[in-house]
Amino acid sequence: MRPETPAPVRLEDYRPPAYGITTVHLDIRLAPQATRVRARLAVSPAEGTEAGTPLVLDGDELKLVALALDGRVLAEDAIRVSPDRLEILSPPAGPFTLEMETELDPDANTRLMGLYRSNGTYCTQCEAEGFRRITYFLDRPDCLAVYTTRIEARKGDAPVLLGNGNPVEHGDVPGTDRHYAIWHDPHPKPSYLFAMVAGDLARVSDSFTTSEGRDVALNIYVEHGNEGACDWAMDSLKRSMRWDEEAFGRAYDLDVFNIVAVSDFNMGAMENKGLNIFNDKYVLAEPDTATDQDYAGIETVIAHEYFHNWTGNRITCRDWFQLCLKEGLTVFRDQEFSADQRSRAVKRIADVRLLKSHQFPEDAGPLAHPVRPRLYHEINNFYTATVYEKGSEVVRMLKCLLGDVAFRTGMDLYFDRHDGEATTIEAFLACFQEASGVDLAQFALWYEQAGTPMVRAESHYAKETGRFTLTLRQQVPPTPKQADKKPMHIPVRVALIGRDGRELRPASVTGAEMTGDVIHLRETSQTVTFTGLAERPVPSILRGFSAPVSLNSDLADEDLLFLAANDSDPFNRWAALQTVVMNALIAASACVARQEPVTLPDALVAAIEANTVDGTLEHAFRALCLQLPGEADIAREIGHDVDPEAIRIARAAVRRTIADRMARAIAAEYAGLASTDAFSPEAAAAGRRSLRNVLLDYIGHGESGSDGALVRAHFEQADNMTDRLAALNVLVHAALPGHEDALASFAARHKANPLAMDKWFMVQATAAQDETLDKVRALTRHPAFSAGNPNRVRALIGAFATGNQSQFNRADGAGFDYVAGFARELDRRNPQAAARLLSAFRSWRALEPERRKHAEAALRHLASDDGLSADMRDIVDRCLQ
Ligand code: PHE
Ligand code: ZN
Repeated sequence: MRPETPAPVRLEDYRPPAYGITTVHLDIRLAPQATRVRARLAVSPAEGTEAGTPLVLDGDELKLVALALDGRVLAEDAIRVSPDRLEILSPPAGPFTLEMETELDPDANTRLMGLYRSNGTYCTQCEAEGFRRITYFLDRPDCLAVYTTRIEARKGDAPVLLGNGNPVEHGDVPGTDRHYAIWHDPHPKPSYLFAMVAGDLARVSDSFTTSEGRDVALNIYVEHGNEGACDWAMDSLKRSMRWDEEAFGRAYDLDVFNIVAVSDFNMGAMENKGLNIFNDKYVLAEPDTATDQDYAGIETVIAHEYFHNWTGNRITCRDWFQLCLKEGLTVFRDQEFSADQRSRAVKRIADVRLLKSHQFPEDAGPLAHPVRPRLYHEINNFYTATVYEKGSEVVRMLKCLLGDVAFRTGMDLYFDRHDGEATTIEAFLACFQEASGVDLAQFALWYEQAGTPMVRAESHYAKETGRFTLTLRQQVPPTPKQADKKPMHIPVRVALIGRDGRELRPASVTGAEMTGDVIHLRETSQTVTFTGLAERPVPSILRGFSAPVSLNSDLADEDLLFLAANDSDPFNRWAALQTVVMNALIAASACVARQEPVTLPDALVAAIEANTVDGTLEHAFRALCLQLPGEADIAREIGHDVDPEAIRIARAAVRRTIADRMARAIAAEYAGLASTDAFSPEAAAAGRRSLRNVLLDYIGHGESGSDGALVRAHFEQADNMTDRLAALNVLVHAALPGHEDALASFAARHKANPLAMDKWFMVQATAAQDETLDKVRALTRHPAFSAGNPNRVRALIGAFATGNQSQFNRADGAGFDYVAGFARELDRRNPQAAARLLSAFRSWRALEPERRKHAEAALRHLASDDGLSADMRDIVDRCLQ
């Protein structure tokens, strides 16, 4: 029998710490396998702490080499120490100083938590509980301290020494080949925001003057040779700094802002105070190696981490249950930033697509959890789409319900009142309630109840009376440990569209509170009556995706296609078309299952074509209208007894039908979009490329492109990664003549660039072909692959598991076995990365019985393993519950 699973952490068990740590002095003497960390902590009992209450510090795989309290070595029976805990059994009743020395082995740290080395660079990752892998500490976000850090290393190994805050002093260590630097961060912070970096890095510098007149030195540190790939990140940083001043009145608060790019990183990036550490994927970009999507991702992540300086760092979380307090809010802020930098409509559609493809399946499966969970076994597994993306939607709904002005007043109040604190969702909501006078008690359920609410809309028009009624019903499905749900407060933005495409103004509205165009849906069912309408309107419901719900309306395809052509809300214009397309894809999947031919309504093809060729619309928007939902999206909408192979065949048939029926328009548009302008990463140029590349995808999968000539030409003539990769994808996925040569030429060109090679892995891992699994296996032995690097794992194994529905979910179960086995191996070296990979199983219960059986067997096999990490154990157990 495996050991008992450790007890979970529960929100209701939160207690403030018995001791506070006010200052931390660290002296870190770096060596690859034996780094010494001396910590001097100023500790004092919290008010109300009884004298003699033990001080219990967290550790994780630590080796203690020295310990003193107020300068005196403690007797052996005065402490209890283990690698994951240090107890001072009877500390003094007043303030005291604790000095400790620990020894670490950065080279052996493959978990990428705590202090580790990435390509020789020493770096740290402390969120959520990594600081305890450096020294014993009250490693919890409500313990705020002022840090001073001395870093010492061999000069040759690490000419660059970086810490949090401002640089204070640096110099040589006399008589040695070593040097040191001292950094001081005046802002009290939790330990998860601690960071240091030491290595032989190149620097790209710039500066920024804040609205408060502070001159800030901006530096981006990268491996030598990558200096030329930092321009976009630096530009994004400066735009972020300006935007936060303008949109939220928040200015930067230190004299330096450092960013370091490392190649081994579990997540996207980390907002350490004054020293952001990034996965290099979110820093480095050049036209030849980065796609437009990469450029957009860099802009977003740079902004996100920068915005954390106020939402996360200045105001932090009381405990990890409040994670969405910083993450949901900061995602909201970065989404708004990107919307302002680019096209708001296109950005909103992209964000909603991401929400639906990542968060909705999470919310519908065994890993579902509230935006603010109440219980966890392993906090690392809660950096999820629900906390981040749904968390952002909740903030967006607040803004929608309260209006722009009250929202901003609430934000100002939040910054004002809680600056320097570790706080909670309740405190956050209280600011908005005060600012607006709106009772947010029901709204707070968005943080408590998991599951995507289903909203059903039915409408009726009576010509005789000129009345139009809209009945809205809501239902929140049961989720793990939450069987019964209460009705939510849902903002439903609505307009009534007349025959000429204009919005109709009703004489009166009854049945629900309405502010502007927002219906406040608060009950299980509400009927809203609009009067004074001389013609039957078509309702445009949930405009801008005003709430993260699954909307189902009684609108006929004819009405939806009318909206697809006429809705003045571009989001809903796109959404209406998507709904019709999705219904057609679901119907097509059923046809395939019954072995009947797939058909597509003429009116739908015409509607897609109309938007595709409409020169008054943005290119990027037209591209989105033409793009079919993915196989996983279709599976999610079908929801049960999913047959991924039938979905793949159906989607391919629909794509083929559109390609052939629209062949002339597609060819003409494609030809008209060629550009001879120099490459620009800006939104307009990227939008143009996106439309041209979606058209290319149809051409390559249609009759006209089946000889591969046009796609090969696109590949060969590409002067940027976006176009080259788009063509490579089509060549490989449609198995067009010449695809092998294209893969070889791509690899030859990019073999020295790991991030570019990730794309090469990804293209092959996502090919919906029977041989793909064998190919993935073989590619793990490719020299550019490394199981120790999370980006490589995501590009190859992660892409196969989440981006290749038919092959991961193979009917023979081999896809499940392979991914589960890979995760098991990876777990020995990097539990976080392994657990993340394993969450690809989260929709297994929705599969048809045969596949479900295989998926369950793979999970059960893992579950029977005694040696799983806490991270993996948590995912396996929840998946099987
Ligand atoms: N806090 C980081 C962010 O959202 C994410 C992260 C979490 C990074 C845990 C590393 C470890 O910006
Ligand atoms: Zn974040």
